[in-house]
This record gives sequence, structure tokens and C-alpha cells, in this order.
Amino acid sequence: MRLDKLLAHTGFGTRKEVKKIIKDKYITVNDEIVTNAGLKVDPEVDDVRVGGTQIFYEEFVYYMLNKPAGVISATEDFMHETVLDLLDPSDLVQEPHPVGRLDIDTEGLLILTNDGQLTHQLTSPKKEVDKEYYAEIDGIVTEDDVVKFEEGLLLEDDDEPFTTLPAKLEMLEIIEEDNASVIHVTVHEGKFHQVKRMFKAVGKEVTYLKRVRMKELHLDENLPLGEYRRLTEEELAILKA
Ligand code: URA
Repeated sequence: MRLDKLLAHTGFGTRKEVKKIIKDKYITVNDEIVTNAGLKVDPEVDDVRVGGTQIFYEEFVYYMLNKPAGVISATEDFMHETVLDLLDPSDLVQEPHPVGRLDIDTEGLLILTNDGQLTHQLTSPKKEVDKEYYAEIDGIVTEDDVVKFEEGLLLEDDDEPFTTLPAKLEMLEIIEEDNASVIHVTVHEGKFHQVKRMFKAVGKEVTYLKRVRMKELHLDENLPLGEYRRLTEEELAILKA
């Protein structure tokens, strides 16, 4: 890759800014001062230094975010904060984006990466990736609902009605006196407001929703709301499996 591109991608400024750093002779490649911004370097092989400090290039980055309510899982929005606003500016250099979407009021597991192939693998409807949610429901969830979720629900609240894929609904707690239920639900598709619409179809309302798992990757319960961290090698392998 071009030297100026490498430096821009590792956080040393815009292409214009790094051209100036290069011109000002701050850069060495394999111990030689370099002034040609277009020089082709191989970041895996060449020793590239800025003012004597070696730089390391990562093509792909992978983060797990515990998304709080109130932020949008998009890369930009005119009205609200986005999940990218929660990242340190130095972690934005590789231009990560959210993998799939969570509603503004949904919390929990959101992966951010610049790996388009993995994003596709995790979000393509054909892959039917497991997504598990913890939810609090206004209403008493019944065995009948469990069966309906398992059979697939006809959602007719949109211009294009569709039947959901079988989903696994597990009851955690029924709170009779509050007319409320606490459940886990695993879905294999990601239609707009999917979980909320499924409960609406059985006459109930989701009052709190949190994604806790994607494939076999679980939300790190020690990650506070609004915080993020890099995925470990093991976690990445789980997502790629
Ligand atoms: N289903 C929903 O209704 N909302 C989400 O954010 C995710 C799944």
C-alpha cells in the first residue's frame, strides 16, 4: 500500500497532513529516510517508523460494544448520538461500522468492525445467524406463545406481511401481580423491530430489550453499558465459525 495511505490509516492525520510529515523527513522505511508519499510499502514486512517509533498496521478491527439506550446503531445521524460517538477517536481510524442494527432503545451486544466479509456473514438473511435477546414484557407470556413463536408468526403490520422463522422463546419469570414476564428469545433473522413486532402479534408489549448473544458469542456481562473492548482471538473465531 502507499506510504501516505498507511500513515493515514494508522492515525497520523489526513492524507494531506501525512504528506507533510513525509516531506518533512519524519519517516523511515527500513532505516532509510523516505520523502516519496507514494512509495509502496508492505506493512507486514517493512519497518516503517514515524520519528523513530515503529508503526503497526491492523487491517481489520473488531470491537464488542454494550450498546446503551439513546444511541443509534448507524455511522451518522443528524439528531442523535451514534454508536461511533462512543468510540475513542483513535479507534475510528480504521472506520469500523456496526454489524446490523439495534433500535435506539435496545441495549446490549453490538459488534463493530471494518471487516465487510464478516459483516456480510453475520447479517445476510441467508445465514440465519442466531440472535438472542433478554426482554421484559408487559403481559403474561404463555405456553401458547412459546408454540406460536416456534411455529413462526404472521406479521401483518407492514405493507408486506411475512411469516417469521421459528424462534425459541424461553420463560425466565412470570410476575402475575405486575402482569409482566421476563423472557429470552432467540431469532434467526433481523427484520425491522422484529422482536417487538413478534410480541405485538401475540398481544403483548416489549418494555425492555437487550441483545445478549450473537451466534455463540455472548455479551461480556462485565462490560458496562456504553463501554466497548476488542474481541479476543477466541471470540473472533466464534463469530467467524
Ligand atoms: N428486535 C427489535 O424489535 N429491536 C431490536 O433492536 C432488535 C431486535
